[in-house]
Amino acid sequence: MKKKILITGGAGFIGSHVVRLFLNKYPNYDIYNLDALTYAGNLENLTDIENVKNYTFIKGDITDEVFIYKIFSKYKFDSVIHLAAESHVDRSITDPLAFVKTNVIGTMILLNAFKDYWSSNFENKLFYHISTDEVYGTLSETGLFTEETPYNPNSPYSSSKASSDHFVRAYGETYNLPYIISNCSNNYGQNQFPEKLIPLFINNIINNKPLPVYGDGNYTRDWLYVKDHATAIDTIFHNGLNNETYNIGGFNEWKNLDLVKLLCGHMDVKLKRTPKKSEALITFVKDRPGHDLRYAIDASKIKRELGWEPSVTFEEGLKITIDWYLDNNKWLQNVTSGLYQSYYEKQYRK
Ligand code: NAD
Ligand code: TYD
Repeated sequence: MKKKILITGGAGFIGSHVVRLFLNKYPNYDIYNLDALTYAGNLENLTDIENVKNYTFIKGDITDEVFIYKIFSKYKFDSVIHLAAESHVDRSITDPLAFVKTNVIGTMILLNAFKDYWSSNFENKLFYHISTDEVYGTLSETGLFTEETPYNPNSPYSSSKASSDHFVRAYGETYNLPYIISNCSNNYGQNQFPEKLIPLFINNIINNKPLPVYGDGNYTRDWLYVKDHATAIDTIFHNGLNNETYNIGGFNEWKNLDLVKLLCGHMDVKLKRTPKKSEALITFVKDRPGHDLRYAIDASKIKRELGWEPSVTFEEGLKITIDWYLDNNKWLQNVTSGLYQSYYEKQYRK
């Protein structure tokens, strides 16, 4: 069936992989990528597909209500895959309001536009909201987040995402708006902006700069390769049930310090450095306020009900990621010049 899909945040890290996957796999779909091109959005992520016939890039902000209503009337999107967001916990600590604006109000505006455009007939329409496992809060040493875990967000970022999830669900209950929500664990892979742990540390290792580990490094995250997240989104979009939530993860927990040491080992080999050279760059710095101890996803529902599971192991995914950053030095240099330097200086001088 032909579809007209609005993908928001398609110039960002995960969104760019979703846009590419959908364009390659579904040549009969019209794909519209709406992105404000904030510091995290980068059209260089999409140069290989920018001239594909059924692809349209729309520069715009999801908080601009008039503009959002206008593009719904113009393009008549039958589905939305909503990824646009402020996505970095550290930035949410310094500027929480920006997260409310984009993640809460922006999502509300999209929901309203979708509702007002289709409410006379929601058949074959879908609002698919991409969210995070961070809405569940933090785990102690044991246990996993399931779809039934109560929301208990701790950072301004996770609170804004939790709030947007609640609004999506409320629109389903109140207005019968057809929706799906998925909550994914930490992603890594090509094109991730180097403010998040893995690309930031790869960049610092390349440049022989200190590796700033927050606190004692004994925090646990559950890592998923970004292209596997994109295939999960494809699976859920096509086969998920309306008004359901799906957790996405790879049963792949790592303590930060162990992960950083693994990364250092691979980088030493790639850069032909003596063993442990990169590890010597590890520096323990002041902890993140309200730092969640552990995230870990129970991804059994999506496997059981939709047959999805990750395609690569963490070792494979990490090697692909390292190779990509080493082969794409120009991309890395472009995104780490200018404003990135002042962000870095401010964030890490404390
Ligand atoms: P990202 O920061 O790399 O990309 C976000 C994109 O949204 C950027 O292209 C940016 O320009 C765009 N954007 C921001 N504000 C906008 C606005 N007001 N209007 C239009 N576009 C705007 O983020 P990401 O890591 O690709 O995350 C994408 C989504 O997935 C987010 O909703 C995030 O909460 C969720 N998520 C991310 C992870 C992760 O590990 N990165 C894990 C689970 C869920
Ligand atoms: P991050 O990539 O920011 O993702 P999230 O906060 O959404 O999990 O951070 C992953 C983990 O790495 C988290 O426990 C914080 C830690 N971290 C550091 O120790 N140092 C850093 O410079 C960064 C960016 C993160």
